[in-house]
This record gives sequence, structure tokens and C-alpha cells, in this order.
Amino acid sequence: MQQNKQEIEIIRLFKKLLKNKPRGHHDPIFLGNEKKYLNKCISSGYVSYVGKFVSLFERKVSQYTKTKYTIATSSGTSALHLVLRYFNLGPEDEVLVPSLTYVATANAVTYCGATPNFLDIETDSLGVCPKKLVSYLKKKTIKKGKFIYNKKTNKKIKAMIAVHLYGFPCKIIELKKICKKNNIILIEDAAEALGSLYKKKHLGTFGDAGVLSFNGNKPITCGSGGAVITNNKTMCLKLKHLSTHAKKQDLIDHIHDDIGYNYRMNNLSAAVGCAQMENIKKIIKAKRKNYLWYRKAFEKLKYVQILKEPKLSKTNYWLITAVLKNHKIKNKVLKKLKREGYGLRTTWRPLHSLEIYKNCPRDKMENSNDFFKRTINFPSSPKLNYS
Ligand SMILES: Cc1ncc(COP(=O)(O)O)c(C=O)c1O
Repeated sequence: MQQNKQEIEIIRLFKKLLKNKPRGHHDPIFLGNEKKYLNKCISSGYVSYVGKFVSLFERKVSQYTKTKYTIATSSGTSALHLVLRYFNLGPEDEVLVPSLTYVATANAVTYCGATPNFLDIETDSLGVCPKKLVSYLKKKTIKKGKFIYNKKTNKKIKAMIAVHLYGFPCKIIELKKICKKNNIILIEDAAEALGSLYKKKHLGTFGDAGVLSFNGNKPITCGSGGAVITNNKTMCLKLKHLSTHAKKQDLIDHIHDDIGYNYRMNNLSAAVGCAQMENIKKIIKAKRKNYLWYRKAFEKLKYVQILKEPKLSKTNYWLITAVLKNHKIKNKVLKKLKREGYGLRTTWRPLHSLEIYKNCPRDKMENSNDFFKRTINFPSSPKLNYS
């Protein structure tokens, strides 16, 4: 079929589908106590991080994800940075990350002075390909004692950030085995994956620590916010300390015993988050309906594939992803519909192709490059199919 005809068909179908529906890329949905809890904060005067909603929010997230500890932060990015600080990542270290992720994953590594190594993805899970990872490590690293080092830079491969892209689980069990064998710390970037399960277990709970985001475009939002989830009490205490400028408890004095950060979540954000968590099941249900809705609508167009969650998973379908057979139509469809105000977006640009990261060590990127060429994220708000 001609390229032009494909473009026209996709655009027409899209407009018909979203005629009376929200057009935003991921409009939040507020179903319950958000205003009530915000009013409580304002009446109480507790609006910064000292306030009961912060610890209540942490309890709710822990209860939902079945983790012992949650540390609520100002954003997913600050949560990532805090975890890397906890593990003492520094200029002599390198961190394995997928190239196909939001830039925050790699930026957190850079904040510590460490260097990201970019890895290719596999196209079913959208996460780091375990097979390619093994051959990358074989080719590029050397074992010295318990640890592995980059042959070229002599720096330690100290950690990996495994990303669960668009709410889909990466091959976390295989990646965990590889990390364990090579003494690599495993951090899960589950910023896009709250509510997603792999083998009935929440994403973010497989590694040494998991990171969540509650930005305005995430399934559950606090406006801006993030969290670290972990079963490690020492980590929990240290992260709470670091996220409040490492201030020691003292009745009269200001004692700071480390270089900390202003990374704690504030009470207003946590109040919204508490109300959102009360409706998480309904929200995820609506988002899962989005997948079926798009799949049914696009079934007739054989040159568009709506990505289905990987086997053994139940995901939040954070952003519905469409793969186009003909990559040449991607930008045309995007431009036309975006100009008319529809909230479509290109998938993340692989980070190795950004000027800021072009000199970092990396693997060959056939899958990441090809995926970026032919994929679009469709509007994915729970409002589309909430009933
Ligand atoms: C994969 C990934 N990591 C980290 C982040 C950072 O989260 P935040 O925007 O809350 O800082 C995001 C946010 O979109 C993300 O998608």
C-alpha cells in the first residue's frame, strides 16, 4: 500500500477515535480525596516535608508494592540520584543503562560523576537484552578480583539501572543473575511502571532498590514526586537523612553530618499522592482498557502494531506504543496530529544519539535505533476509558 494512503488512514482513524476524548498525552485523573487532603494540609499549616501525609503516602506505597520501606522524594530523578549516592557512585565508576530510556536515568549517573555505558534493548520486553549484555561484558570488560572493569577506561562497572520502559517489565530475572555473577549493584528504574507486575511481583522490587515517579504524566501523580522502594532498613534511614540535607535531630542546633540534598517530598504533593493511591486499582484498570481499545481500533490497519505486554506480566500500559511497519510515515503522522493538538509523542530518543552522551561507552544499537525510527506513543490517559 502507498505510503500516503497509510498516513491518511492512520490520521483519519485517530481523529475519529479521539473525537470526544481527551487529547492530552497523559492527562491525570482525580477521582477522590485530592482537594479534601490538600485543604487539610493548608488548614494545618504543614505544607513542606514535615507533615503527616508524607509518611502516610510512604505507607500506602509500601503496602501496595509489598515492600518494607518507601522513601518519598521530590521527583523520580532525585530518587535515582539518592540511590546512586547511597551506593557511593563516583568518577571511578561506570553504570550500565539502556540507551532507550528517559534522559533522567543517565543524568542521575552523570550527577555522581560516574559514566553511563549504553546498552541495546530487545524489542519484546523493551528492556536491556540479556544476551547482548553478556557479550558486551565479555568483549569490553575484564575481571579483577571480585569486580569487573572497563578494559579501555579501567573504571569499575559498579551498577546497572534496569529500566521498565512504558510500564513493560525488562528481563529482570536474567539481568539480576548477570549482575549477581559480576558483583554489580542492580537498581530498577520503575519510574514508568507503578502498578505493573512480573510473575505477580511489583516492578521495582526485584533489585537492590526500585525507583518510582509521580510526575504529572504518570498513572498516579503528586504533581511532581518520586520514591525509592526497598526492603533495606539501613538504606531507608540513610536516604531519608540524605534527602533532608543530612540534618541531625537536634532540639536547638543545625548540625549536618554529610553533604545532603533538598530531595524530600512535600506534604502538599504527598496529600495528592495519598488520594491518588486510594484509587490506583481503578486507574490501572482504565489504562489497561486503553490497550484493548486501541488494539481493536487499529486491528484493520495491518501496518500498525499496538504493543502487547510481555508474557507473565500484567502491566500499567503507561504509554501505549504503536509500531509502524513503514518508518517513513512516523514524523509525518506526528507532525500533522500534533499541529492539531493531539497528544501523540515520539518514543524516547536513544540516549547514545544525544550530543551530551555521544562519547560514552556503548554497545551496537540496532534494536534501539530501529525501535525509535518506527514507534509512536499514543495518548494514554486513564480518562480515555475510565467508566
Ligand atoms: C524512565 C524514567 N526514569 C526517570 C524519570 C524521572 O522521573 P521524574 O520526572 O519524576 O523526575 C522518568 C520520568 O518521566 C522516566 O520516565
